[in-house]
Amino acid sequence: MSENATALREQILALAEQFFNQQFAGKAFEPGTSPVPVSGKVLDASDLRSLIDASLDCWLTTGRFATQFERQLARFFGVRGASLVNSGSSANLCAFSCLTSPRLGERQIRPGDEVITVAAGFPTTVNPIIQNNCVPVFIDVTTPTYQADASQLEAALSDRTRAVMIAHTLGNPFDLDVVSNFAKKHKLWLVEDSCDALGAKYNGQMVGTFGDLATVSFYPAHHITTGEGGAVVTNNALLKTLAESFRDWGRDCWCEPGKDNTCGKRFEWQLGELPCGYDHKYIYSHIGYNLKMTDMQAAVGLSQLKKLPSFIDARRQNFRYLYERLKPYEDVLLLPESTPAAEPSWFGFPIGVREGAPFGRDALVSELESRKIATRLLFGGNLVRQPAYQNVKYRVASSLARTDYVMRSVFWLGIFPGLNETMLDYVAETIDGFVAAQKTGGFMPVLQS
Ligand SMILES: Cc1ncc(COP(=O)(O)O)c(C=O)c1O
Repeated sequence: MSENATALREQILALAEQFFNQQFAGKAFEPGTSPVPVSGKVLDASDLRSLIDASLDCWLTTGRFATQFERQLARFFGVRGASLVNSGSSANLCAFSCLTSPRLGERQIRPGDEVITVAAGFPTTVNPIIQNNCVPVFIDVTTPTYQADASQLEAALSDRTRAVMIAHTLGNPFDLDVVSNFAKKHKLWLVEDSCDALGAKYNGQMVGTFGDLATVSFYPAHHITTGEGGAVVTNNALLKTLAESFRDWGRDCWCEPGKDNTCGKRFEWQLGELPCGYDHKYIYSHIGYNLKMTDMQAAVGLSQLKKLPSFIDARRQNFRYLYERLKPYEDVLLLPESTPAAEPSWFGFPIGVREGAPFGRDALVSELESRKIATRLLFGGNLVRQPAYQNVKYRVASSLARTDYVMRSVFWLGIFPGLNETMLDYVAETIDGFVAAQKTGGFMPVLQS
């Protein structure tokens, strides 16, 4: 770059930071008037600087920022590889699809094989199983951890079971001891959907490093954002290559964009029924997709990653604060619990309305929403009751009674770093008022969990 261009670039970047600080200065919170969002991106001037920096390269597709982000993300997890994709859903699709590769020999997942999973969650944890013509086998969750009930795994097993693919829902890890041992014992693949749980730990080990593959999401609701975005994380070099093949059109070649002949024998391969020497760039070993991330997105991720530890701390602190404020209502509200040995990286604050409470979940949600406090249900509730799954082949391993409870009675509130104690006090005071008004009927609570 010429000296002039370098100076101009620096000027543009400095102006972008000034613009951010001018345009997005925080506004004072006014209870009842200002919204209390459930989640949202937390950006600062350095994120915009990084975004503009990548734009000024005019490279546009995945490039130098993506390479750096992949390296630093892999370092964060302490694994060999992180492969960026354009969403958490794409990460799940890539991670599961790569297990169908013929290169895995007898461990290749084939149509009709079964995969143990959970119905109380997000659809795109389960959809790749269906999209690959395999059969999801649902086990129930425990409350109030809202994680897979690991005691049901053995009963869910059949001679077609090939994998377990489960999410650490809302940032609380599932029982990784039992689930990992079960997967090892039965030679099953384990895919950890860690989209909600970036930075969570189990027995001091980073969640996402227990299974064969893990996925993360960088959608704005998640711990760090690239707008749309996600990643597949793995310590297994072959699985990394396979996941990237599915991401990059199904190609056999593993050259970075803009590079040629990384393998050193670009015109010497003979694969399939192609003539010997057919350009490796255009040899396809899988029925793939194009799920790549752009360099502008990666640049934002790179700058967000620096702030991840402080974001996780803020989420944990907000979680604890709200928990203490809502403790007096444990007779009517089922407050969340972390899985034993887990250090969650909370995504949200789940609340169940107890059976026997003098009000239902929907009344409480409607009161909160009317006071500008955003709420969310626990994603799909019970996926098998969703319209999309009515004609899908699946198996229910045992009763999904607690999953139905999640569908009927659970919702979650925000604890993301954009919220502060003043906002959380307003949330708690709104619940104080609502519960007090409902209790004046002199009801008798039924205590259960
Ligand atoms: C557990 C889980 N998996 C996958 C996804 C999908 O991520 P994305 O929105 O980036 O596609 C989500 C979305 O919130 C999620 O909560």
